[in-house]
Amino acid sequence: MSVLLKNGLVVTATGSFIADVFVDGESIRSVGTGLTAPADETVDATGMYILPGAIDPHTHIDMPYQDTRSSDDWVTGSIAAACGGTTTIIDFSLQGKGESIHDAVERQKERASGRSVVDFGVHAGLTDIRPDVLSEVQRAIHDYGTPSFKIYLFYDFRVSDADMMSLLVETRKHDGLLEVHAEDWDIIQREGERLSRTPSGAPLMHARAHSVAAEVEAIKRVVQAVQLTDSRMYVVHLSSADGLAEVRAAQMRGLRLRAETCPQYLTLTEERYEEPHWAGAKYVMSPPLRTSVNLEPLWRGIREGAIQTIGTDHCPFNFDGQKDMNGRDDWRVIPNGAPGIETMLMLLHSEGVVKGRICREKMVDVLSTTTARTFGLPHKGAIAPGMDADMIVFDPLRRFTIRQRLLHQHVDYTPWEGWEIIGMPRIVYSRGTRIAEWAGDRMRFIGAPGAGRFLRRSPIGAL
Ligand code: URP
Ligand code: ZN
Repeated sequence: MSVLLKNGLVVTATGSFIADVFVDGESIRSVGTGLTAPADETVDATGMYILPGAIDPHTHIDMPYQDTRSSDDWVTGSIAAACGGTTTIIDFSLQGKGESIHDAVERQKERASGRSVVDFGVHAGLTDIRPDVLSEVQRAIHDYGTPSFKIYLFYDFRVSDADMMSLLVETRKHDGLLEVHAEDWDIIQREGERLSRTPSGAPLMHARAHSVAAEVEAIKRVVQAVQLTDSRMYVVHLSSADGLAEVRAAQMRGLRLRAETCPQYLTLTEERYEEPHWAGAKYVMSPPLRTSVNLEPLWRGIREGAIQTIGTDHCPFNFDGQKDMNGRDDWRVIPNGAPGIETMLMLLHSEGVVKGRICREKMVDVLSTTTARTFGLPHKGAIAPGMDADMIVFDPLRRFTIRQRLLHQHVDYTPWEGWEIIGMPRIVYSRGTRIAEWAGDRMRFIGAPGAGRFLRRSPIGAL
């Protein structure tokens, strides 16, 4: 199968130009003007952007949580990704007590294989840092194709600072990358205890307990650990201006600290927790939504390069039947997480590019190009010869009103219900195959479950 896209605006992380893109099989063969190679499919992309497929490095698909699982399985979650323009997912698999990294990774690989419609990778979430696990890190990076590992400083399965440092040393030695959920357990526990005695205001108390101070304190510990071990680290879902200030200060001192933020921290604020009829539970996630003063500094952080990537932290639970399982009486057990896998690109474009907060090249950089480099995906993340033909023909003027009933993610709400969007995918290709397209009022999926492949990622070079 060959595809020729004609006269689109090819957007790269460093510039944009009108060109044709010729795809032969699964890869981009050439990018240039006046290409005439005969193709099975020719698309007039005049007025359209040609973007690399987005890479979502932070999802929790079919994730066990308390007595339930996040509501998207690998078919529905990856279809939602595809319809939103995301052609690569890197999901987390949380290591159980006594489990090897190998088994944790295989568990998630098995769940996704034969189901995912887009290519996928796995990060190992490490919780049980035994000597045999530390020595397995090298094999995970070089043999399993899983060079990135996440630790938590919050939740029951958090790791100690000593274990964080041991992992920093191992990942530095073998070209891996350690990621961290940076919230301080002690601060949140103490505040949680105090606030749990407050009878009113339930979901808002989650945000109060998970204070900005808890994020800042955890990042300070991370910075010290990176400095002491001369290693590098990636802070997932950075949510606050003060947290960003710590990251920036470390970067200014030459420390190799990277940061990701999410569309929810760029667009939503903590007033959501006070929505009537307990609807604030929809936004119970960790870290929580912050006050409005945090939004513009995070956008500036992206613009200025202090934040390098965007992930969604897609972790959907139905409002009816999951969020309210136990949580109506105790906000501390409301399942943490919210949906977002399908709305990442549309929000970054509409709220970011259209509103002049970032340029379209920066959007491509943080959604694709730098994400690919950060996570060991040399064949993804750019429209260039030799790359996988993961491409979006994107209509920058298309208007769309976000409605959960028009989306594909398997959950009963979206945090952005009713938002007016400018810019939507027209066609999405995964390795040269058309998998989703605009269908008049919404995206339509036309790919096949199981077509996505496990991505054996490379060790991670200089960042
Ligand atoms: O609230 C969230 N973010 N849920 C998913 C698990 C995690 O903390 O990343
Ligand atoms: Zn997460």
